[in-house]
Amino acid sequence: MKVTIIGTGYVGLVNGACFAEKGHHVICADINQNKIDQLNDGQIPIYEPGLAELVHANRQAGRLNFSSDVEAAVQASDIIYIAVGTPMSPTGEADLTYVDGVAETIGKSLNGYKVVVNKSTVPVGTGKRVESIIRQHLGGREASFDVVSNPEFLREGTAIKDCMNMERAVIGAESKQAMQLIRELHEPFNTIIVETNIETAEMIKYASNAFLAMKISFINDISNICERVGANVVDLSYGLGLDSRIGNKFLDAGIGFGGSCFPKDTEALISISKNVGYEFKLIESVITTNKNQPIHFVQKIDTIVGSVAGKKIAVLGLAFKPETDDMRSAPSIPIIRELISRGAEVHAYDPVAIEQAKLVIGTDVVYSDDLLQTVDGCDACVILTEWPQVVKMDLDEVKKRLKQPILIDGRNIFDLAEMEKRQFVYASIGRPDIN
Ligand code: UGA
Repeated sequence: MKVTIIGTGYVGLVNGACFAEKGHHVICADINQNKIDQLNDGQIPIYEPGLAELVHANRQAGRLNFSSDVEAAVQASDIIYIAVGTPMSPTGEADLTYVDGVAETIGKSLNGYKVVVNKSTVPVGTGKRVESIIRQHLGGREASFDVVSNPEFLREGTAIKDCMNMERAVIGAESKQAMQLIRELHEPFNTIIVETNIETAEMIKYASNAFLAMKISFINDISNICERVGANVVDLSYGLGLDSRIGNKFLDAGIGFGGSCFPKDTEALISISKNVGYEFKLIESVITTNKNQPIHFVQKIDTIVGSVAGKKIAVLGLAFKPETDDMRSAPSIPIIRELISRGAEVHAYDPVAIEQAKLVIGTDVVYSDDLLQTVDGCDACVILTEWPQVVKMDLDEVKKRLKQPILIDGRNIFDLAEMEKRQFVYASIGRPDIN
């Protein structure tokens, strides 16, 4: 099948490469000439394991092309995916400027029946909005089209695996013809297809992300209680997750969720609810817990170190999760800012996210992609991202290089007994401290 994907960001690129890998002919289009030039040059603008190889192989096979001529790309395919960003507006709502712009371009270029698919995370009602914008820009031409919602569920860092082995494809459509076409597009993925109306598909996306965010805030709240009563949240999560009605995923306590989705989508769901006269208090609490968690962690660091003022603190990991250079809403941002405002000197390590981190955190931090160099001479070492390089770090060497053997672990990577044996002062999330 011929597919055009508009927007070569995270979602657009990954889907483009995966659709091509499954045998479809894909054009990834973007108005950003720079990005298209880069992609045509074989450079991938984001860090995602396996993506560069997949893009390369499918370009070689002639199934994947990049173009900045969006109108021509619309005309060349039967299925047009909208995969542009929907950033958070100052009011918390999703900003639809880019989606509207693409809908306008599609309207102006339509040359026959097409199925226009919304892949971007968009508020309920956007399907209808896209349809009306396309119609407004047809300029009296006879062109038929249908709008479909097909939300995205991939995770950064494991995007290719998630997309190639998708657990379900949600297709929201009113037209039978469009539903059938998008079903066929997904046939090679051999996955469960959930057929709904457009509004339900749009809501499934928000409900999924809000539910996962809720699990994380729930376990973070529980971890804060564990710390006060002497319980161990890691053992608790294990015991809790064995109940198949609860499940063991997304129950890792930590420093709060970050990234480009959960923080934005929970806020957007609050806005969606408010707009229809409903107060979604549960999700408001999920957001509040998540905002407090990084500050709670800094208080912990401050207590263990005995005030961070004037201390040299090593921070391991900046990206919001491993295997990505994405710094959007990373918990490292409020944590480092708070450490600096309390007078600490911050030395930060990350294997891939330093350039992105400099753009948001600035130059008040000493950055390095050398872990041992970062901890050298520091008063304490703080873990913010569970990179494999951090999980497997040479603890003896780290201890030797630190001024004091203090490790404060925001991801519960290490075993308590092991840290006791190694004589570290070790604090983590929701588990007893080792002094
Ligand atoms: C999330 C969803 O997991 C995807 O299903 C969804 O498609 C995507 O958003 C999206 O809407 O585009 P992503 O943001 O890439 O994916 O990352 P996650 O793996 O979900 O992690 C999000 C945050 O939660 C990270 O900061 C992570 O450290 C944190 N987290 C995750 C925890 O603190 N504890 C956990 O148990 C799991």
